Amino acid sequence: MKEIFDTDSEASFEPLISGMIDEGFGSADDFLPPWVVAGLRTNLLHARDTDLMHPAGIGRKFDFQKNTLVRGDEILWLEKDTKDPFEQAFFERVEQFIQYLNRSCYTGINDYEFHYAYYEPGSFYKRHLDQFKSNRARKFSLVTYLNEDWRPDHGGRLSLYLKEGEKEVLPLGGRAVFFKSDEIEHEVHPSAARYRLSIAGWLKSV
Ligand code: OGA
Ligand code: MN
Repeated sequence: MKEIFDTDSEASFEPLISGMIDEGFGSADDFLPPWVVAGLRTNLLHARDTDLMHPAGIGRKFDFQKNTLVRGDEILWLEKDTKDPFEQAFFERVEQFIQYLNRSCYTGINDYEFHYAYYEPGSFYKRHLDQFKSNRARKFSLVTYLNEDWRPDHGGRLSLYLKEGEKEVLPLGGRAVFFKSDEIEHEVHPSAARYRLSIAGWLKSV
């Protein structure tokens, strides 16, 4: 099978990794090409239209009241054996990134998990860490955005709480953000009058 992403496209991995090492997080605007972003966005909206998404949980027991105070996104996990060409392209890109990361940083990542996320206008995810206390398999967080033409006044920014202070990232389509799951606290602010689409996931050592 011919691969979609050649070695030139590994250039955008460098700012993700060096940012993570030097600053606490890295971001790259061309992690995914526009045709993959558009296909994944269509998938996500179709999943929502056909009621496949469900409220995201926190912790082990799902308590809707308590939960919605912390996060309001709806999610759908991606399946590794997907037949969808855009999800296959996404996973090919993720695996290329993992190989690059393991080669350059000896990180020993050997598994991953990703879900689509849909934030209604007004919904948010309060300040948190991504690693569970009960399970430390999640080593790195990798969030990719699927929004078209996002502007600062649309809200929905990601705040990362670093030693040096707060850094902000807008959820622009094709952009990825990368950081250590057990170290970097972060928060999704409410978006204004439009929904906010992403794929959030974790690189794991199991
Ligand atoms: C998460 C998360 C960040 C974002 O899903 O755990 O923090 O910008 N997402 O969507
Ligand atoms: Mn998170």
